[in-house]
Amino acid sequence: MSIIEARGLSKSFMQAVKEPGLAGAVKHLFIPKHIEKIAVQPLNLSVEAGETVAYVGPNGAGKSTTIKMLTGILMPSAGSISVNGINPYKKRMENAAQIGAVFGQRTQLWWDIPIVESFSLLKDIYQIPEPVYKANLDQFTELLGMNEFIHLSARKLSLGQRMRADLAAALLHNPPILYLDEPTIGLDVSVKQKIREFIKKINQEQQTTVMLTTHDLGDIEDLCKRLIIIDHGSIIYDGSLSEVKSRFARNRVIFFQVGVPMPELYNLLSQTPGMKLDRQNEQEFSVSFDRYEYTASEVVSRVMKHGEVIDFRMEDANIEQVIKAVYDGNLDLNQKGE
Ligand SMILES: Nc1ncnc2c1ncn2[C@@H]1O[C@H](COP(=O)(O)OP(=O)(O)OP(=O)(O)O)[C@@H](O)[C@H]1O
Ligand SMILES: [Mg+2]
Repeated sequence: MSIIEARGLSKSFMQAVKEPGLAGAVKHLFIPKHIEKIAVQPLNLSVEAGETVAYVGPNGAGKSTTIKMLTGILMPSAGSISVNGINPYKKRMENAAQIGAVFGQRTQLWWDIPIVESFSLLKDIYQIPEPVYKANLDQFTELLGMNEFIHLSARKLSLGQRMRADLAAALLHNPPILYLDEPTIGLDVSVKQKIREFIKKINQEQQTTVMLTTHDLGDIEDLCKRLIIIDHGSIIYDGSLSEVKSRFARNRVIFFQVGVPMPELYNLLSQTPGMKLDRQNEQEFSVSFDRYEYTASEVVSRVMKHGEVIDFRMEDANIEQVIKAVYDGNLDLNQKGE
């Protein structure tokens, strides 16, 4: 059985509908009107132990709602969840011992006490044995560069410092499962990098299962082998990151460096449908082409016919284009690859 298993999981909210202004507010008081908002449509999800899964989708797609149900914060409207064999909503204490969770939008640390004191409280709450606590605290402080702020209270921390402290707090008890809801939101590149490296290390060394929501494509590329895309509460893609790239990134790019300028070739390529020439200088250029119309070897051999190629390299398919197309509704994820 998978470590995280959800069947027919869904969540609806009753949302109040108020007419504008004071009159609307008063009317709502006497005749409240609600509509049902389906945040998550019945979905199935299985995550294996040790996996790193990116759970992505546009704003309001239902990502945080799913994570909140998996962590046991929200009760599902329907369906079943089993996390390490436990129903997270019904057995919240047991569940808390086996998961770590970071919600980028808000801290779980005590606002007014020094971070190191928050950690020490967590040690008591989770009954972490002293040697484990000590080893984790030392290692996390080092890896996340927390020395400069560990004695400050959470209220005094910058966003990047707070996020690092939150991440450490979530992992002090060595949980086998880690949920991260936008862990890098609003962070500068170097802190992002620190956080990604830390998560990668924890996953590799302890086989921690990681499920993360993010709008940062760098997080996905760096951390996750599997991608789940949710839109309007339904999962529209669930598969490997490399597959989605190779299947759906339609354009590929090859960069060339040639021995002598090839004006004839440049002319020819500029006029070829499905290809786009981009010239850096006389002897360096790139050709982007539609992978459904041409193969890479066709493109390379066309160039080689015109003269000596000193070097060429192919650019990896870009996940950004894929995700954007999905968000814009321009990609049929059921389409077959080649
Ligand atoms: N407590 C709530 N009461 C009413 N509606 C809610 C509640 N929580 C979420 N929703 C609605 O459910 C839908 C999904 O919200 P959710 O927070 O899961 O989206 P998300 O995918 O995390 O989006 P984002 O990328 O903006 O964080 C939204 O339409 C939201 O308005
Ligand atoms: Mg969210």
